[in-house]
Amino acid sequence: MPDITRVGVCGCGLMGSGIAQVAATAGCDVVVLEAVQAALDRGMAGIKKSLDKFVEKKTMSAEDRDAALARLKPTTRIEDLTASDLVIEAVVENVAVKKELFAQLDALLSPHAIICSNTSSLCIIEMAAATKRPAQVAGLHFFNPVPLMKLVEVVKTISTDQKTIDTLFGFVERLGKKPILASDTPGFVVNRLLVPYLLYAIRTYEAGLASREDIDEGMKLGCGHPMGPLTLLDFVGLDTTYYIAQIMFDEFKDPMFAPPPLLKRMVLAGHHGRKSGKGFYDYA
Ligand SMILES: NC(=O)c1ccc[n+]([C@@H]2O[C@H](COP(=O)([O-])OP(=O)(O)OC[C@H]3O[C@@H](n4cnc5c(N)ncnc54)[C@H](O)[C@@H]3O)[C@@H](O)[C@H]2O)c1
Repeated sequence: MPDITRVGVCGCGLMGSGIAQVAATAGCDVVVLEAVQAALDRGMAGIKKSLDKFVEKKTMSAEDRDAALARLKPTTRIEDLTASDLVIEAVVENVAVKKELFAQLDALLSPHAIICSNTSSLCIIEMAAATKRPAQVAGLHFFNPVPLMKLVEVVKTISTDQKTIDTLFGFVERLGKKPILASDTPGFVVNRLLVPYLLYAIRTYEAGLASREDIDEGMKLGCGHPMGPLTLLDFVGLDTTYYIAQIMFDEFKDPMFAPPPLLKRMVLAGHHGRKSGKGFYDYA
């Protein structure tokens, strides 16, 4: 398999823009595909702003920023991805949309190309089955904010071959990030451990065992976590957590993953965390 030099990124939202940015910064030629021109413009402006911040903080030179921007090619035409060695999909979390995209990419890309999904909760094998190259389909799960977070989970399905995994490990390391190997099960490694912890923090609060501030202080000072679980939930989004917990509960049928009643009610009330101005804390 040739080295990965040409990368395609599908979706230029929160995650896709970050993935495109780090790939271009690492020296890859990157084509970024969006369904919507306005979203593409917004995403590209976000990339420029983020790179400018690195220059301001003197962690990147102005020349390197300009070179990274020059390696990015925004587009709304899927055909522009044809020459990619690797395509990373970061479009909406909807399996029908992703399967359709995987089938289109499979028909378009050369036989050596790898196709990856950045999904947080869907089965990678379901997308792989929409292609004729399941051995070259895997998950590449980045963390938000992508330019700052060091971890990438490389997700191996029951069909992914080892050569694909080795190539993806090399690619992630080239981005300056740390790959870990995960299997194609809901939550991979990090959310499999994190989601039950966050849900248990909600149960602790719901049961009146401690105040929200004391739960957060307890985990910060007692365990050295950078933020407490209820603050973290407000960051991640209560709606997102609820959605992921439900998927994990559906799969494992383990009460550990069952969304607590309070979480459901907060989501129904529109208290989604920071983004809605209110979650466990007020951000008005
Ligand atoms: N937000 C997170 O913290 C996070 C973390 C890890 C993984 N993820 C995963 O990353 C993916 C994207 O999440 P996000 O938060 O960036 O979403 P987002 O809504 O910010 O961005 C998705 C973008 O995809 C575009 N899009 C939709 N269909 C498309 C298509 N067919 N072709 C090209 N573009 C298309 C939309 O216009 C939108 O701009 C999801 O699968 C999500 O599960 C999200």
